[in-house]
Amino acid sequence: MLPNINIKIMILQLHSYWAYIVLLVLLVAFANALFAFIKKRSYKDLDMRIARFTLIIMHFQLLFGFGVYFVSSYFKSAKAIGMGAAMKDKTTRFFIMEHPMVMILAIVLVTVGFVKHKKQPVSLGRFKTLTIYYGIALLLVLSRMPWGQLFGK
Ligand code: HEM
Ligand code: HEM
Repeated sequence: MLPNINIKIMILQLHSYWAYIVLLVLLVAFANALFAFIKKRSYKDLDMRIARFTLIIMHFQLLFGFGVYFVSSYFKSAKAIGMGAAMKDKTTRFFIMEHPMVMILAIVLVTVGFVKHKKQPVSLGRFKTLTIYYGIALLLVLSRMPWGQLFGK
């Protein structure tokens, strides 16, 4: 079963390293929208590119997240001990429920924010929409990052 093990590790590492890109890109997109909103500057092509790039990075993390979910040992142990018992274990509950649910919510917010901002007729409205949606998404991502695992290795 060697190939399986390799694929499992590859998906885990991809999801793990991609998280740094997610954090960086989401932070940049949020800061860009916030400062543009405060300065009341006009919306440029680059702003659309930053917002869309963030959306794409997040959607890819969603894909990797689902991949990781089903190969994860937390998923296997949750299946083995049963959902009720799994929810009583802090780490298993975090990776099986809290982390995926909150991250999916953050990705949904970025998607809705992106679509809504495109429909805004004026620059200020576009930046305001992006600031709110991407900002809340950033907070959600920060709140459910497995910080210990990310830097503890
Ligand atoms: C539940 C799954 C998904 C949903 C509901 C979803 C939905 C969306 C929506 C609503 C947009 C914005 C379209 C627009 O207004 O421009 C979008 C864009 C995009 N998504 Fe997803 N997506 C999903 C999964 C994925 C996955 C798994 C990938 C790739 C791995 C992906 C890649 C992209 C890309 C590249 C764009 C940018 C398109 C553009 O240039 O505007 N999405 N998606
Ligand atoms: C913004 C989106 C996300 C970020 C930034 C993120 C980040 C991370 C990080 C840094 C880890 C630790 C990996 C390690 O131990 O090295 C992790 C683990 C995990 N993530 Fe995510 N994630 C996101 C979305 C998702 C989604 C949408 C799902 C599921 C649908 C998911 C499922 C998991 C699972 C199951 C693990 C545990 C893997 C294991 O160690 O067995 N993640 N995530």
